[in-house]
Amino acid sequence: MKLCRASGWNQLTTDWERLLDHDPQGCFAVAVNEEIIATVTTTCYGRDLAWIGMMLVHEEYRRQGIAVALIATCLDHLRSRDIRCIKLDATPAGKLVYSQLGFQDEWAFHRWKRDGDSESKPLDGDRGATNGQWNQPLDLTAFGVDRRQWIKRLAAHSHTVNLQDGSGMIREGHLASYIGPMVAATPSTATQMISKLLAKTSRTTFWDVPQPNQHAVTLARDNGFLPVRDLTRMWTGRQLIPCDLSLQYALSDPGTG
Ligand SMILES: CC(C)(COP(=O)(O)OP(=O)(O)OC[C@H]1O[C@@H](n2cnc3c(N)ncnc32)[C@H](O)[C@@H]1OP(=O)(O)O)[C@@H](O)C(=O)NCCC(=O)NCCS
Repeated sequence: MKLCRASGWNQLTTDWERLLDHDPQGCFAVAVNEEIIATVTTTCYGRDLAWIGMMLVHEEYRRQGIAVALIATCLDHLRSRDIRCIKLDATPAGKLVYSQLGFQDEWAFHRWKRDGDSESKPLDGDRGATNGQWNQPLDLTAFGVDRRQWIKRLAAHSHTVNLQDGSGMIREGHLASYIGPMVAATPSTATQMISKLLAKTSRTTFWDVPQPNQHAVTLARDNGFLPVRDLTRMWTGRQLIPCDLSLQYALSDPGTG
């Protein structure tokens, strides 16, 4: 958490716990005198696709090859599981590391932000929902692989909106509420969904919008969001697992796609 706060990231303890619960053997850290000074996580979605996330190195220990060593550890771990495609969402600093290690750009996106009321109460943190209504067939096409176990974990700490041809979530973060993941079959469903999700918070809100989905970009702008951070979706492995960005309106988190 100290590394998250120092880098201005939005994750809460529950975000770390979810990652550690999902893949306890796939999360790695470097410690100096028992203090964690670097982290990385992997999240597997079956054997086809895995994500690398939460790459954080304490400022005092940067440029010593720690990120490179942690990525090598992740790649060894994921190759031992015979994962076909490995993706991550890179900050500009991260991209400098990953592009040297064989990761290729897939597409660019931005984090969008809408300012809210700093006095307002955070969303209720623990929904405890199993979320059986999530539109699984649509999610599979939009994301590219079955991630229902992950969706179930996210639902426990999110508010979910399910419409006839779309599903979306909003959860709490340290700096802002966070919209995502969100999938919708049509722009009009996405428009309805966003207004329902935004109605749940009056805090500042983040939304990671896939740039190639121009409907999503327009929707973000029309709802008062502004782009605040550049990110790049990158991948490596035997084969790129594609996703359908016309159906994807919000990521689940840059650490997990
Ligand atoms: C990005 C980050 C993880 C890199 O960690 P690191 O341990 O310093 O990276 P490494 O020492 O392994 O760097 C390997 C190479 O990447 C490149 N690189 C890394 N950081 C760089 C920077 N700030 N500027 C230019 N090149 C950089 C260099 O080529 C470097 O090799 P060199 O030091 O021999 O020139 C770290 O800066 C960090 O935690 N940043 C804040 C959080 C963040 O953005 N995380 C990435 C999320 S995708």
